[in-house]
Amino acid sequence: MTRQLHLGLFIYPGAHHIAGWRHPSTPAASVTGLDFYRDVAQLAERGKFDLFFVGDTLFTREKDGRFFGRQTTSNLDPVSLLSVLSSVTTKLGLVGTLSTTYHEPYEIAAKYATLDHLSGGRAGWNVVTTWEDKASLNFSREQAMAKADRYVRGREFIDVCTSLWDSIDDGAAGFLRDPAHVHPVAHHGDSFAVSGALPVPRPVQGWPVLVQAGGSPPGLEFAALVAEAVFTAQTDFEIARAFRASTHDRMARYGRRPDEVVIMPGLSPLLGSTEAEAQRLEQELGDLVHPEVGIWMLSENLGFSLYDRDPDDLLPVDEIRAAKKPTANADMLLTNAARQKLTISGSARLIARSRAHHSFVGTPEQLADLMERWLLGGACDGFNVMPPYFPQQLSVFVEQVVPELQRRGLFREDYEGNTLREHLGLARPEPGRFQRMLKHVPA
Ligand SMILES: Cc1cc2nc3c(=O)[nH]c(=O)nc-3n(C[C@H](O)[C@H](O)[C@H](O)COP(=O)(O)O)c2cc1C
Repeated sequence: MTRQLHLGLFIYPGAHHIAGWRHPSTPAASVTGLDFYRDVAQLAERGKFDLFFVGDTLFTREKDGRFFGRQTTSNLDPVSLLSVLSSVTTKLGLVGTLSTTYHEPYEIAAKYATLDHLSGGRAGWNVVTTWEDKASLNFSREQAMAKADRYVRGREFIDVCTSLWDSIDDGAAGFLRDPAHVHPVAHHGDSFAVSGALPVPRPVQGWPVLVQAGGSPPGLEFAALVAEAVFTAQTDFEIARAFRASTHDRMARYGRRPDEVVIMPGLSPLLGSTEAEAQRLEQELGDLVHPEVGIWMLSENLGFSLYDRDPDDLLPVDEIRAAKKPTANADMLLTNAARQKLTISGSARLIARSRAHHSFVGTPEQLADLMERWLLGGACDGFNVMPPYFPQQLSVFVEQVVPELQRRGLFREDYEGNTLREHLGLARPEPGRFQRMLKHVPA
């Protein structure tokens, strides 16, 4: 059988294109309301998507110390949102982001176990260490923790969470538990001390599906140990292939096989019935980008102030690289800008499209061609679809791209299972699996 695509719907408040919320078809005023999220989730489920994915936001976007408007709103609390969506969907996987840097494992383990039970086994956790250092100011810390230390804490965090999920035997359901089926955790580590069992029965899926999206070297190592799905930003076919192969190689060091992970790069498709229409839409959206917002977004993403530069100058790629080692996402953007000889305003328009993610402009057939090539060429196992604006561009995807993928035998006609693990083809973890993998971590 031909390899099958996995599809995530990556929701972003208002839109993925920075000006998408200004598109006349977007219900910008209602993106914090249940109707908006319910309609989008149900549309994704009609399109047989594997999962719905929402990020977290632990800080407000600022410029020069002041809240910066003219942007979309930030993410709603992911687990609260997904809990509500679990009651208006029946099959769609529900993946939410929470940070290991700013929470406690007991609290998070109970939240995801609850979501997994309420949804009948559809929960996933995007485990992040938090990209924005300013978040520390909202969590009683003057200074953000060093990146490598955050991942050491993250590993201990997953050790505790998986021990808690495994602390009650499968089948010891409800609150009438035989003590013989309870295995209290006794964890005394560098960051956490946890004693006792989880107050919630073992999740339907054993553990929620563990997702990882960090791109730094310690982030990639963490993914090799922890991730069952990897969300990543990849814009180049060959680089994406190499990324997937190197993830598999790293996993092997922890005794893990390639079929234990699903790699899903972001893909933001702007679709038109003809190429010309898609390009016209792109121009229309580009014209809606407020110039100050574009330069702000570019400066934030590159970690380099471009506010005082002439927007018509070429992006000073070498100067930016020399000032600070770019993050993985910034590096991708700089490489693209240098290759295409983009000006500062041209780079702002590029990043406005989908931040550092792969953006596509064209017809549904052309998009299906790209997705087929990436899947069959070994560059991914699926995509995290990022509509430039909601709900209209998602409707076009569901109505025109999904049937085309199905016709080519690349995507399910209907759900075959009920849980997110079943959709993604991931095994249910047996108790103690994570602690066995930890034995492979060098001291
Ligand atoms: C698709 C995708 C979604 C992400 N969502 C979040 C998010 O919601 N919250 C967050 O703090 N970071 C998010 N990130 C960023 C990373 O996980 C972030 O880079 C990480 O937490 C910091 O680790 P790193 O330095 O290894 O990249 C996302 C990344 C990708 C590719």
